Amino acid sequence: MKGIIFTEFIEMVESRFSVEVAEQVIEAANLPSGGSYTSLGTYSHHEILKLVIKLSSISGANPADMQVVFGEYLFTRFHEVHPEFFDGMEGSFEFLGKVQGYIHMEVQKLYPEANPPKLVCKRIDDNHMELFYQSHRPFAPLALGLIKGCAIHFGENLTIHYEPLPGTGDGTEARFHLTLEG
Ligand code: HEM
Repeated sequence: MKGIIFTEFIEMVESRFSVEVAEQVIEAANLPSGGSYTSLGTYSHHEILKLVIKLSSISGANPADMQVVFGEYLFTRFHEVHPEFFDGMEGSFEFLGKVQGYIHMEVQKLYPEANPPKLVCKRIDDNHMELFYQSHRPFAPLALGLIKGCAIHFGENLTIHYEPLPGTGDGTEARFHLTLEG
């Protein structure tokens, strides 16, 4: 998985907890890479899962909830690092509908070796949408956090019903039922 996900995770730990906690988490995770990441590098996604588990044991939150928190944070960072993807976007349904066919495709050009997940959106009506997530990696809770971050970004009151699916393993497949309230 691309280094930007790792560098952002470590920056979140440094800013929400402390530099010392970030060092402690990296050390405890005993990573093959040693924990020094660059945003364009590529690393095993197992490393981020280990980092999440170590941070969970320090913070007391469970690993899936930690992924959700990270997803919300990551969305704010995507906005800062890639404002070009937000041009002309008026709401989360429009934005989420562009991730699969546009944003993640551009991401594959910007980040060599990127292999983003499948995210298929089905617009039911003006206020309802279904989003199907599928990956070879178990990051459905991260997708939930990114969707939450997206709704916060657009100032919307979005109810998200998260339906985990068996897929090929825990967290590799999920359906999200989204309802825009008000
Ligand atoms: C500006 C918006 C976005 C950018 C720039 C972006 C970029 C990226 C990048 C660089 C990766 C790493 C891919 C790899 O290493 O192979 C990634 C992975 C991922 N993206 Fe996005 N993304 C965006 C929006 C979203 C949104 C809105 C969602 C959720 C609905 C999403 C869901 C995911 C998930 C869950 C992963 C983790 C890898 C996996 O599940 O296999 N992304 N994205």
